Amino acid sequence: MHAVVLVGGFGTRLRPLTFEIPKPLLPVCNIPLLERLMTSLAHGGVTHAVLALGFKPEPFLKAFPNNRCADVELSYAVEDRPLDTSGAIGFAAREAKIYERGKTFIVANGDILTDLDVAKLVLFHHSVKAEGTIHLTPVADPSQYGVVETDATGKVLRFVEKPKSGETMSRHVNGGTYIFETSALERMPGTAPLSIERETFPEMVRDGVLYAFASDDYWIDAGRPDTYVRSNIELLSRKSIYQVTPIATTAKVDATAIITQSTIGANCVVGENAQIVRSVLIDGAKVDANAVVIDSAVMGHVGAFAQVTSCLIGAQGEINSGAVLRDAKVPDPAC
Ligand code: GDD
Ligand code: MG
Repeated sequence: MHAVVLVGGFGTRLRPLTFEIPKPLLPVCNIPLLERLMTSLAHGGVTHAVLALGFKPEPFLKAFPNNRCADVELSYAVEDRPLDTSGAIGFAAREAKIYERGKTFIVANGDILTDLDVAKLVLFHHSVKAEGTIHLTPVADPSQYGVVETDATGKVLRFVEKPKSGETMSRHVNGGTYIFETSALERMPGTAPLSIERETFPEMVRDGVLYAFASDDYWIDAGRPDTYVRSNIELLSRKSIYQVTPIATTAKVDATAIITQSTIGANCVVGENAQIVRSVLIDGAKVDANAVVIDSAVMGHVGAFAQVTSCLIGAQGEINSGAVLRDAKVPDPAC
C-alpha cells in the first residue's frame, strides 16, 4: 500500500524549535515523530510513502539516508510554493505516480501519533465503497480541528474546519489519516493551492462520496507546544507498539539530578540537583546545576538555579542563571 505523508507545513506553533528541526523530525522519546508515524503505517501495510514537502528535503534525506524509514521506502515531492493540503496531496501523488501503483492509497498528516490500525480504515473504506474515508477521533474541545458529522452508515454529512463555538454539536474530529481511491485525485489537480479541509472535503460531502470511521485508539496531534511535550510524556507510560528510549545513552545526567516523566536526548547535559519534570530535552540541550524545568521542551541552555515552566527553548535560547520564566518562547519567534 502506498501513502502520501504531509510534512510541508511551517511548524509555526512549534517555533523556535522548528527553526532548527522541521516538525515531523522533532523527537518523540528520542525517535523522530515521522519515524513513529511510519512505524504505525507500516503495521497497517504501508510499504512506500511519498513525503509531500514544502521545504528543501535535506533534513529528511539526512535523517533517512537510505530512503527508508521504519521499513517504509521513501520518496520525495518538493513543492516550489506551499500548495496547502489538497494541492500537496495532488502534487505528491502525481510525482510518485501513485495512480499507477494501485486503486487505493493512504494520506497522513505528518504530526499525528496514533495506534490506529490503518488496515481497518482501508477495510471500512472498501465495505462502504467510498471515494474517500476520514479517520475520526473523539475530543473534548473540537475548536482546533476539523469537525465531522455523519449519518449511521458513516457517510459524512458535514465537515467544518476549526468551527466557532456552537457551530456544530459533534465531538468527532478529523484525525488526519485518510483513505482515497485514485479517482479522488481528479479533485486535487496539484497545480495550485487548495485546502482538503475547506474545499475538497466539503465538495466530496456534496457529492455523497465521503465517509468517516471513528475509533478510540490512542491519538494525538503533536503540532502544538502542549501536545508536543505531552506526546513524549504519554509515550513513556502508555502501552504501545513503539520502542521507547527515555534517556539517550550519550546524555550526561548528574547522579543527583531528578528526572520525572521526561525524555533526555543525545549529548544533553543535566547538572547536579537539577530537576526535569514532564519535559523534553532535545539533543544537545544543557541544563545547569539546580535549575528546574517543568512542562517544557528545551534545545538550548538553561542556566543554574533558573526556573522554566511551560516554555519552548530553541537551540539559540539562553536562559540566564536564576531567571524565572513561564509560558515563554526563547528566542521569541515573533521578533
Ligand atoms: N506539503 C505541504 N504543503 N504540507 C502542508 C501544507 C502545504 O502547503 N500545509 C500544511 N501541510 C501539512 C502539515 O505539515 C501537517 O502535517 C498537515 O499538513 C496538517 O497541517 P497542520 O498545520 O498540522 O493542521 P492542523 O493540525 O491545524 O489541522 C489539521 O489536522 C487536524 C488533526 O490533527 C486538519 O487536517 C484538521 O482538520 C484536523 O482535525
Ligand atoms: Mg497538526
